[in-house]
Amino acid sequence: MEAFASQIALAVERTNLAAEAQGALLLAETERTRSALLASVSHDLRTPLAAIAGASSTMLRNPESLSAETRRELVQSINDQAERLNRFIGNLLDMTRLEAGAINIRKEWQPVEEVIGAALGQLEGRLAGREVRTRLPDSLPLVPLDTTLVGQALVNVLENALKYTPAATPIEVSARVEGDWLVIEVGDRGPGLAPGEELQVFEKFYRRASENGQPGAGLGLAIAKAVAAAHGGRIAAANRPGGGAVFSLALPLGGPPPDLPAEARRDATIT
Ligand SMILES: Nc1ncnc2c1ncn2[C@@H]1O[C@H](COP(=O)(O)OP(=O)(O)OP(=O)(O)O)[C@@H](O)[C@H]1O
Ligand SMILES: [Mg+2]
Repeated sequence: MEAFASQIALAVERTNLAAEAQGALLLAETERTRSALLASVSHDLRTPLAAIAGASSTMLRNPESLSAETRRELVQSINDQAERLNRFIGNLLDMTRLEAGAINIRKEWQPVEEVIGAALGQLEGRLAGREVRTRLPDSLPLVPLDTTLVGQALVNVLENALKYTPAATPIEVSARVEGDWLVIEVGDRGPGLAPGEELQVFEKFYRRASENGQPGAGLGLAIAKAVAAAHGGRIAAANRPGGGAVFSLALPLGGPPPDLPAEARRDATIT
């Protein structure tokens, strides 16, 4: 009996130690995340703010000496940088809310082609002049999803295709049904991913070192992953045969839409 009790004590201690180690790991992880967050936030907030402050003060100092063209360029730069700030803060908020479980997912049966169309629409200005090929079969089913969140995930993936691939290369968007999943793919013909990056790119704050020239916080794909997970789905990255990267977002089809007649629903569930 005594031996038994001491074994239990040992086991309890071991569990405590394991929990402590786990706690320490978690703390280190949180600390790392916090410093990465601080570094990223201060850089990503300051760079566009400095540009806005610079452009506006130039315009204020001696507006008469500036040509109409220069003024237009300065206003354009203020506008671009303000949009960049807005995107960054939006991403940061989404990420924080998704992590805290504070975003209420509102799933509704939606036509996927509309969600894709809306995402492309949101990037309209920046997609101008870019070849975008869409391949969407007529027979796509309705899918239960939160349009805002899935739209955001698609925008983040499409924005990357824009940012990290040469302007002369096409972006391909397709959707198809695969078993119980609806799979949306965004393919590009850019540099693709280095070995091991297929998973890393979805980590918070992960950016390839050579990406310094392009604005970004390394949050876009982490958000896309959180959105996929919140839908019970997943997102994956791979290199394409012939070059470039492809991002596949798989969402559960969730059975037939509820507004189908009972008979059709029964037929559909049997298969
Ligand atoms: N289509 C792509 N081709 C090649 N590399 C990519 C592609 N998409 C993403 N990456 C790499 O993955 C990294 C992480 O992407 P992610 O979208 O999460 O962050 P970001 O674009 O750097 O910043 P943010 O999206 O927060 O503005 C990028 O910095 C880039 O190095
Ligand atoms: Mg991005």
